[in-house]
Parts: sequence; C-alpha cells; structure tokens
Amino acid sequence: MNRSILITGANGALGLALAEFFLTREESCVVFLGVRERRERAQELAARFSGRAHLLTLEVTSPDDWKAAVTEIETKAAPLSVLINNAGFHEDALLANMAQDQWSRVLDANLNAVFHGCQAALPGMMRQRQGRIVNIASLSAISSPAGQTNYAAAKAGVIGLTQSLAKESARMGITVNAVCPGYIEGGLPADWTPEHLKALKMQLPMRRFARPEEIAAAVFFLASADASYITGTTLKIDGGLL
Ligand SMILES: NC(=O)c1ccc[n+]([C@@H]2O[C@H](COP(=O)([O-])OP(=O)(O)OC[C@H]3O[C@@H](n4cnc5c(N)ncnc54)[C@H](OP(=O)(O)O)[C@@H]3O)[C@@H](O)[C@H]2O)c1
Repeated sequence: MNRSILITGANGALGLALAEFFLTREESCVVFLGVRERRERAQELAARFSGRAHLLTLEVTSPDDWKAAVTEIETKAAPLSVLINNAGFHEDALLANMAQDQWSRVLDANLNAVFHGCQAALPGMMRQRQGRIVNIASLSAISSPAGQTNYAAAKAGVIGLTQSLAKESARMGITVNAVCPGYIEGGLPADWTPEHLKALKMQLPMRRFARPEEIAAAVFFLASADASYITGTTLKIDGGLL
C-alpha cells in the first residue's frame, strides 16, 4: 500500500531528516513536506525525490491550513496514513521576564498545533481504520531546564495529549506516540558559541549530540506496521543523558 506521510516543519533539521528517512526506507510512500516561509531545503529534497515528495503550505497554528492540507493530500495521493507533528520552536526567558505573547506563541506552535493536526488527521484515519501519529516532544518535557517554562509546559502537554488520544483511538487501529529528543545536531540555536557546544557535549554520556537520522530511525519504527502494539508511549532519545 502507498502510504501518505505528512511531516510538519519539514524545512528544519529534523523535519528534513525524517522526510529523507521515509523516502529512502519506504520506496512506495509519498511524503508531504509541511512548510511556511522558509522552504529552500525542502524544495531541494522534493526535487531529489520528484513525484514522491511534495511541498505543502502549512502554518500549523491554523486549523484552516490543516483542513486544506488533508484535502490536498487525499486529492494528490492517498488518504493520510502517517502524521508526524514535528514543527516547533523555543523562545526562552525566565518566567519573571517572559512576555505574555512569548508564552502564547510557544504554546500555540508546540501544543495547540498538535491538537489541530490530530483533529484534522483523525477522521480520515478513522475511516481507514488505521493510522500512525508521532508527536515530537522534547527532553525538556521530562527534565525541564530553567528558562523554558513555556516550551517545557507545551512539550509536557504534548505527552499528555499523546497518552489520552492513544486511548481514544486504539480500537480504531490508530497509534499515537511521542518522542523526546535531547540535543540534535544542526537544530541548535545559531548563537551558541563553539565553547558552549563543547561544554554541553562534555555533559553527555556519549559526548556528542544526536544525528537527526538517529531520531528519524525511531520515528520511522513507531510509524511502521511492526510497531502495531505500541501506543501512548513516550520514547526519550537522549544518548543516555537522563
Ligand atoms: N533541535 C533540538 O535539539 C531539539 C531537541 C528536542 C526537540 N526538538 C523538537 O524537534 C522539532 C524539530 O526541531 P528542529 O531541531 O528540526 O528545529 P528547526 O530546524 O528550527 O525546525 C523547526 C521547523 O518547524 C517549523 N515551524 C515552527 N513553527 C511553525 C509554525 N507555527 N507553523 C509551521 N511550521 C513551523 C519551522 O519553520 P520555519 O523555518 O519557517 O520557521 C522549521 O521548519 C521541534 O518540535 C523541536 O521542538 C528539537
């Protein structure tokens, strides 16, 4: 069966790796790359996998964009089989200094967007009596550093949503899981100095950050038929940090 896979935030470090992993490991699948303004890297990937990878304009905080995206996928390929809620960002500040819109923006993109995405994807998956949803949370959800009250709360919310929705949808053949990556190579703030990066690595048991494809491999498994009895789980992928 040709599965339709939707990956949000697909111009980013992890989104690109996820897309490439699915495209190379599952030759029959069609991958939809959710993008907004920045799209150059996703465009390059789509050109390399012409006919099997399509860009899709998707601002994940917009329920209308989600409806249009699901319709476009059904029209261009097959009904959505796999949704990977990957888009997200952090905007750190101490709570005492955090502006209200800094709180809301982060909650919107990292948590409310997952609600909108799941709600848009579910009717089609319920009709098919099968589906895979993988939500990208973060290690910050289970071991929350100072300065990330907004991001940690949003990602912890994603874990709660995942567990609850897994129970609601299990009998319909739909699994819902979350992964919590630690630091990912290529996805770290550009203003972190080489000294800071080196010091961070020294705190990690493996002395290195995750390669994006190491996260993608776990997501690919959770989205596979082999993971049919795994739902509501949260998988941390942190090289042994916690
Ligand atoms: N990097 C890490 O170390 C790390 C660790 C743990 C968890 N994570 C999580 O992993 C996921 C991917 O992160 P990454 O490392 O690949 O970061 P990234 O390179 O910054 O990519 C994030 C992507 O999300 C998109 N995005 C953000 N807000 C969006 C919105 N409202 N609507 C649509 N797209 C939106 C961005 O689009 P634009 O380019 O247009 O802004 C970008 O393509 C995120 O959920 C992040 O929280 C990352």
